[in-house]
Amino acid sequence: MELTHPLNRIEFGSPENLGNVLSLSEANELLTDWVKNEKLLFHMKQVGHLMKRFAELKNYDKGQQHMWHLAGLLHDADWDQWPDEHCKKIIEELEFRKIDPRIIKAIASHGPRYFGVNPDSEMDKMLYAFDELSGFIHAYSLMRPQGYEGMEIKGVKKRLKDKSFAAQVSRDDISDASERSGISVEELIQFVIENQLRG
Ligand SMILES: [Fe+2]
Ligand SMILES: [Fe+2]
Repeated sequence: MELTHPLNRIEFGSPENLGNVLSLSEANELLTDWVKNEKLLFHMKQVGHLMKRFAELKNYDKGQQHMWHLAGLLHDADWDQWPDEHCKKIIEELEFRKIDPRIIKAIASHGPRYFGVNPDSEMDKMLYAFDELSGFIHAYSLMRPQGYEGMEIKGVKKRLKDKSFAAQVSRDDISDASERSGISVEELIQFVIENQLRG
């Protein structure tokens, strides 16, 4: 896979800004301004929802849950208008707004092969793990008459093996993300099916 625009840095945001977050309405405002593509918007909402659910089920406090939510919700915010500068633009915007560096770092590492930044924290790793996989499972739901209803892990795995299905989704990224998260692809699929934002 070609590395088109690596971020070429390893530090994101400033430790001075720890604890600074956007409110949900501020995040939604930014998305309304930046993203016209409904599918992309839905993808970010799904990933945000999965991140929040994961943090919730881990019993992390509300502040943490909100950070996880924001990382998912904003990770592709610049893709619609500046695909060639994805995810540089959103990183710069969040740095400008003095947002918590942990959120910015998670966004910066959601595609290690593309951006050249490794996911380190659990939040980083889960964003990477949910990103491609949730999009893939959503594509699968759209071709099933019952959508997510009755969806099974083995059905998803079968589609993953079928290289012509949702061909743009990198199977390598899905397995790499699973390895790095320490959670099997099967468990991740199960989590996505159970906690997916329906719509
Ligand atoms: Fe992305
Ligand atoms: Fe994404």
